[in-house]
Amino acid sequence: MEISTSILSVPKEKCIQTFYNLETAGTDYFHIDVMDGEFVKNNTVALMTEYAEYLNSITTEPLDVHLMVKDVMAFIKSFIIFEPRVITIHLEAAKNKEELMEWISYIKENNCKVGISVKPNTKVEEVLPYLPFIHQVLIMTVEPGEGGQTLIPETIEKIRELKKYIDENGYGVDIEADGGINVDNIAKLKEAGCDIAVAGTSIVQSSNFAETIRMLKD
Ligand code: DX5
Ligand code: ZN
Repeated sequence: MEISTSILSVPKEKCIQTFYNLETAGTDYFHIDVMDGEFVKNNTVALMTEYAEYLNSITTEPLDVHLMVKDVMAFIKSFIIFEPRVITIHLEAAKNKEELMEWISYIKENNCKVGISVKPNTKVEEVLPYLPFIHQVLIMTVEPGEGGQTLIPETIEKIRELKKYIDENGYGVDIEADGGINVDNIAKLKEAGCDIAVAGTSIVQSSNFAETIRMLKD
């Protein structure tokens, strides 16, 4: 299981030291939660832009950008400059298939992998038509909008259903899960077929990043 640490809850006053400690502790990605105050009620644009700048200059760890925004193309353009490994957009933000395919093409044309994220109440079936064109699906295990929430158990079945469909059709698509993930529930996600787990609070609030990340990975 790869670990993508959400930096949403990293305190600004010691963010550089925290990023450095997370890198040496073995996080596989830095998960950047961009919220515009419209698609979700919180607005983290300024902070996530500042953090992306720092991360780009102090670490070689890949950036995993999660756009929880309404004006998707505008934010793809403002975060592609940080040369992230992947940009994940919300299926629910697209008004139709054409628009979603336009975002997918634009991200790929800029040498970046594409992810599609689905909220807890969005059916997995809705993302299936896009699997041939994307690199990962981000299954939200909490309602997007803030860190520190509790994982919604029903979302684990969505991972299992998606994994079965990906394997049956031979798609090389990774499954990432995001929200409320910790050492107590990650084994269920792995068993269901999750490849990458996003964890924010359970890592950043822990007293030993390396030990927590190791426990999440094993
Ligand atoms: C929620 C974000 C998640 C969240 C993860 O909208 O997409 O990445 O910050 O943080 P925890 O692990 O605290 O739920
Ligand atoms: Zn996220």
